[in-house]
Amino acid sequence: MRIVVSAGPEEAGEAAARLVLQRLSVSSGRVLGVATGSSPGPLYRALAASVRAGADLSDVRGFALDEYIGLPREHPQSYHSIVERDVAMPLGLRPEAILVPEGQAPDPTSAAAAYEAAIAAAGGIDVQILGIGTNGHIGFNEPGSPRGSRTRMVRLEESTRRANSRFFRSLDDVPTLAITQGVSTILEARSIVLIASGEAKASAVRRSVQGATTEDMPASLLQGHRDVTLFLDPAAASLLDRVPAKA
Ligand code: GLP
Repeated sequence: MRIVVSAGPEEAGEAAARLVLQRLSVSSGRVLGVATGSSPGPLYRALAASVRAGADLSDVRGFALDEYIGLPREHPQSYHSIVERDVAMPLGLRPEAILVPEGQAPDPTSAAAAYEAAIAAAGGIDVQILGIGTNGHIGFNEPGSPRGSRTRMVRLEESTRRANSRFFRSLDDVPTLAITQGVSTILEARSIVLIASGEAKASAVRRSVQGATTEDMPASLLQGHRDVTLFLDPAAASLLDRVPAKA
């Protein structure tokens, strides 16, 4: 795992965007794995600035990590809506260029299998963007998610629902189920960029980087991947034993 600590969340997003563009530039198919949540916001803003400055991402295709089950696609907090609003539009991509798991499918198991097949048909993911939950989740792979898990329906932890309730009117409005790419699906990406900022993430970052590799801390399973870079602000890096040089 490489660790890059920047002066703040915006700078971490800019540094991460540079690596994303570099990894995409060496790929012929150009497939981006897209995370939601607030952490990747600065990264998407930096990518959008690069597009405005002339970078051409028009042939990039994407796959979102996850989607709530039970929210209509048009709901402002569905990941369909968020990916279209915060990623596709700013990057100048057609909304259809980024697939999101079907949270309203009558049969989530076949929807999950179809999603895996679509990723495989695209040639796999070149660079996967990730945030991290305060409990160490990646995508919606909560603690205890098997290392070999693939895209599937999952139940959200209460702590995750509480953390995400800030985007909803009340906790009761936060779905209890989701479809998420599995840990194994994520680990198959050729390159992984994880972005985290703020003190609330410091403990999960420490356990993921310096702790044991365990399904109890899903982000720690990234230690087994050969091209993972963590982009942190000083607060998210504050519990690491050795703080790497600033970028
Ligand atoms: C959600 C998403 C994750 C994200 C996490 C952290 O639960 N499913 O992909 O990493 O939240 O969100 P934030 O970046 O807003 O702290």
